[in-house]
Amino acid sequence: MTKPLRKAVLPVAGLGTRFLPATKAMAKEMLPVVDKPLIQYAVEEARAAGIEQFCFVTGRGKTAIVEHFDIAYELERTLEERSKKAELELLRASAVEPGSIVTVRQQVPLGLGHAVWCARAFIGEDPFAVLLPDDLMLCETPCLAQLAQAYRDTGGNVVAIEEVPRERVNRYGVLDVEKDMGRLVSVKGLVEKPPVEKAPSNLTIIGRYVLMPEVIGHLARMERGAGGEVQLTDAMAKLIGRQPFHGLRYEGRRFDCGDKAGFLEAQVAFALKRADLAPAMREILQRYA
Ligand code: UTP
Repeated sequence: MTKPLRKAVLPVAGLGTRFLPATKAMAKEMLPVVDKPLIQYAVEEARAAGIEQFCFVTGRGKTAIVEHFDIAYELERTLEERSKKAELELLRASAVEPGSIVTVRQQVPLGLGHAVWCARAFIGEDPFAVLLPDDLMLCETPCLAQLAQAYRDTGGNVVAIEEVPRERVNRYGVLDVEKDMGRLVSVKGLVEKPPVEKAPSNLTIIGRYVLMPEVIGHLARMERGAGGEVQLTDAMAKLIGRQPFHGLRYEGRRFDCGDKAGFLEAQVAFALKRADLAPAMREILQRYA
C-alpha cells in the first residue's frame, strides 16, 4: 500500500526574468491564459488529483498569488447585488478549503531544489507532488492525476516526461533510461541540462512530480549544480537505486508559459478549447495566416 498523495508544493519564487518588464511588479504565475492566472490552473489540476494541502513557496512581490485564493467578500456582494450569477459562480468554483494553503518564503531564489527544500516542514514524512505553474497542461485526464495513478501502481517517485528534439535537451532534466516499458520508463540516472552530445536520452522531465520525502535529505546538502543553482534533479538522482523511480509519458500537451512563444501558443490553444471564444479566435487566426 502506498501512502496517499495529499500534499503539493508549488514553487513560485522565481524572478521570471524572461517576462520582464511584465514581471517587474507582478508575479509570473499571475499572468492569465485567456481569463485565468497560471497559478489557478495549477491548483485546479492538483485538486483534481486528490491534493488537499498546498504549500506555495513564495518570495518578494508575490503576495497577489496568495490573495487570489482569498474570498473577495466585497466583490461577491457587489456581484450579488447586480445579479451577476455567472461571474459569482466563476469566483466560487475556484475557492479552496479554509486553511488548505500555507506559504513559506524563499528569501533568495537559489534554484528549484532550494525552493522545494524550503517546504520541508510542510512535507514532513509524506509523499508530495510538485507543480511548476509555468508549465501549463492541456490534458483530458489532468496531468497530475495521471502521475498520481502511476504512483499508486508503482510506488516511489514518478515524474512526468516528454520527448524533445535532441538539440533542445540541454534546457531540461534528462532521463538515463533503465527500461522503457512504453508509457512508463524506469530510470537509472538523471542529469540536469546536459550538453547535447552528452545527454543520455531525449526524454526530459517537465514541471510535474510525485516525490518521496527522502529527497529533502539530499537537498539539505545544498550542492550547487547546473547554473550554480541547487537543482531538484540532482537530489532526485540520489534516490535512484534506493526507491522506485519512474518517468511517465503523460497524455496531453504542455505549454511552457515561462517562455514568450509558449505563453502565446497557450492563449491560442486554450481559447480554441472554449465554446464562447473559439469562433472569434479562428477568425483572428485566419486574418494573420
Ligand atoms: P524558472 O526556471 O522558470 O525560473 O523556474 P524563473 O526565475 O521563474 O524564470 P526566468 O527563467 O527568470 O524567466 C521554474 C519554476 O521554479 C520556481 C519558479 O517560480 C518557477 O515556478 N523557482 C525557481 C523558485 O521558486 N525558486 C527558484 O529559486 C527558482
